[in-house]
Amino acid sequence: MIILGFESSCDETGVAVVCTERGLLSHALHSQIEMHQDYGGVVPELASRDHIQRVLPLTQEALDGAGLAFSDVDAIAYTAGPGLAGALLVGASVAQSMAWARDLPAIAIHHLEGHLLSPLLAQPAPEFPFVALLVSGGHTQLMRVDGVGQYTLLGETLDDAAGEAFDKSAKLMGLGYPGGPALSRLAEQGNAAAYDLPRPMLHSKDLDFSFSGLKTAVLTRMKNLQADVSIDFPAARANLAAATEAAIVDVLAAKSLKAMKQTGLKRLVVAGGVGANRHLRAQLQSEMARRGGEVFFPPLSLCTDNGAMIAFAAAQRVKAGLVDLDASRSHAFTVRPRWPLDEI
Ligand code: KG4
Ligand code: ZN
Repeated sequence: MIILGFESSCDETGVAVVCTERGLLSHALHSQIEMHQDYGGVVPELASRDHIQRVLPLTQEALDGAGLAFSDVDAIAYTAGPGLAGALLVGASVAQSMAWARDLPAIAIHHLEGHLLSPLLAQPAPEFPFVALLVSGGHTQLMRVDGVGQYTLLGETLDDAAGEAFDKSAKLMGLGYPGGPALSRLAEQGNAAAYDLPRPMLHSKDLDFSFSGLKTAVLTRMKNLQADVSIDFPAARANLAAATEAAIVDVLAAKSLKAMKQTGLKRLVVAGGVGANRHLRAQLQSEMARRGGEVFFPPLSLCTDNGAMIAFAAAQRVKAGLVDLDASRSHAFTVRPRWPLDEI
């Protein structure tokens, strides 16, 4: 079965073609980062309008990349939530219209399930069961994954997401949007040991996270740096970036290892935009290897939002028998800007 998938929950328009037997055939992506940069964050109305303009050319690009025509498509998948309501509605209505035009099933996909299953697109792919660390701009969760559609929440952030901690700290340091990659780049020139930043809830017994205190600590350090004329500001800022990255990564790694211990599982999967962070990858790789476990990441290009993970999640759900293909032809639809993963 050939599935055409759409992602439009935030600031990336992604379209992909996945075959249930052969896997990912092609994907096309447009990032709106440049457009939102002047505003220091995503402007929802601009995001929706841009999705409208990009989605059809990207669909053509994805079909061309797979060497297929629209008439070859057997089902259509789209992100139904969580995300920005207007942005979600663009992908959902385009997907449903296309499905209606050819009487195809339209499959609503949870954005986080897309991230969660994206490491299965890598070689070698992890086998079930595994623990997943889901770290994006809006979410930080540890899940136990026993199979497609079988997700148990082990812990989550009580305030900011890890990506948000990167983005907000980067903003305080005067770096651009999105801050995660910029902060990480600057951190490479700094010395993490120069500042001792808090690692909130590092030793708490549960698997929850909290990052808002870290942001306050970064704010205080930044103010001190700006007021101190005797220091080399660029070098000090690079040190602060390195210390911030180390604090976030230490907490993510420690809680992931605690989840491995609690569940007794040996495989850890990292998904979501922050999964692109080199430091996090290296730290988890060495610590998991030391404990005789394995860690899996999606291909770097598929860490942040993309259509491939949505089409792929739909393919996995179809193969697992979780999609009622006849009911998916009704074409009445809604989007869910807030949608807990355990409600799918
Ligand atoms: O999964 P994603 O593309 O979008 C959401 O669903 O939120 O994640 C975006 C987040 C942003 O907060 C961004 O700053 C962060 O992922 N991010 C990174 C890196 N690349 C993206 N954070 C740290 N280091 C990176 N290399
Ligand atoms: Zn995402």
